[in-house]
Amino acid sequence: MLPAPSRYFTVVAVATFWLGTSALADTTPPIDWTSLPVEEITLFYPGQSSFQWLHSREHPGARMVGRGIACKRCHDDAEQSMGNDIVSGGRLEPDPIEGKNGSLQLAVQAAHDEKNLYLRFRWKTQAERPGVMHNYMRYDGQAWAFYGGPRSAMRVRQGQEPPLYEDRLAIMIDDGDVERFAEQGCWLSCHNGMRDMPGEPAAEAVRSHPYLGEGGLGRDDVRKYLPVSRTDTSISWDKVKSPEDLAKLKERGVFLDLMQWRAARSNPVDMADDGFVLGYRLFDDGNNPFSWNVDRNSMTPQFMFDPEKVGKKSLTVSDIETGPEPAALIREENATRYNPDAEWKEGDVLPGRLLSRVDARGSAADNARVAGKWEDGSWIVTWIRPLDTGHGDDITLKRGNTYTFGFAVHDDNVTTRFHFVSFPVVVGIGKGGDITAVQLN
Ligand code: HEC
Repeated sequence: MLPAPSRYFTVVAVATFWLGTSALADTTPPIDWTSLPVEEITLFYPGQSSFQWLHSREHPGARMVGRGIACKRCHDDAEQSMGNDIVSGGRLEPDPIEGKNGSLQLAVQAAHDEKNLYLRFRWKTQAERPGVMHNYMRYDGQAWAFYGGPRSAMRVRQGQEPPLYEDRLAIMIDDGDVERFAEQGCWLSCHNGMRDMPGEPAAEAVRSHPYLGEGGLGRDDVRKYLPVSRTDTSISWDKVKSPEDLAKLKERGVFLDLMQWRAARSNPVDMADDGFVLGYRLFDDGNNPFSWNVDRNSMTPQFMFDPEKVGKKSLTVSDIETGPEPAALIREENATRYNPDAEWKEGDVLPGRLLSRVDARGSAADNARVAGKWEDGSWIVTWIRPLDTGHGDDITLKRGNTYTFGFAVHDDNVTTRFHFVSFPVVVGIGKGGDITAVQLN
């Protein structure tokens, strides 16, 4: 039996004091997964098929897309061939990654009880190692510098640095308040002007933007947003509604829930992050399970591995080839303050991110029972999402209702457009849907 939430939290709180938490997250749902149906969803490589491209003359379906017709009306069961076509290069992928797969099969199982939605995912990774390394820093004998990056980065394409970027599984949820999400899913949130998309503005242009830039969100790039958050018919990145109008939309529930399981930044502490999409892709209120481990002024790490607990103070460049153990710095488990005088050698490596389950708080920490393990070349991720998180920046799932989900997987050291995405998937809590979350007794 699953402990009642109040008891669960008490147990964690008490146990934390003695042991640290990540080993204690109760990620075992009361479920025999082998008895539940498995739905196979095909995710495919979208390249630069932005909202603007879909409405342009280049897309033969543009007129119907403009009328709100579902993508699947014309593209049902075409995911694999579309992905293979786009990934190999051409008008929707000017910079292909050699050898990259065009699609990915995501196996999904779902169940629920009166408190939680239980999801289990399985997918095969293209790489023969799990993508658990992210934002690593390497010492060159004199100074620390970021090392490795996504396969799309020039220095990685040219072989100067290794591909290092975390694997991710993202879930978007709409409860019917986002117009056309049911028909067109993730594509509503993907626009020209975003990172690695056509028309990407210079960082300076974003910084001087009143909402996105220094006077507002403090960003220097453009990330996901919804058409309803813009004022012009092209849904341009810079034509943002006023903060008051955005707040009113949010209040009315017009936003997408967006949660990401991250193999490097959340999985080591048995969590996923929690955010939403409206005028931008933002995290929910509170603290994420991850933060930076870099002092930006001195470009030195702030924490290192605790030799008393790990047996070493850092990783090495050669660990990266075989898969480091541990791969993540966890404040309450294996970390200690960085010692600048600890005889650092060329090729020493430290994670540029610091994880903590204990410091994660508020609505940003709602996904606190998510566990992924990589075995036989596949990730298996089990995810327990409270039906009602109790927070206004999340979608409350109700039994008997259906919701539109969008799934995305970032596989084999990639970010931004280089992921795989699904057409909209209907998930029924107890009944209905492409996927029905089976009621548990
Ligand atoms: C009225 C029918 C229709 C609708 C609706 C439609 N499309 Fe298309 N789409 C087409 C046709 C026809 C093509 C060109 C043939 C092809 O590549 O499949 C195309 C091409 C594409 C391509 C390029 C495929 C490739 O191989 O290069 C993408 C990506 C695409 N559509 C995505 C979408 C998405 C996403 C939606 C929903 C938002 C959508 N389409 C809705 C008819 C449609």
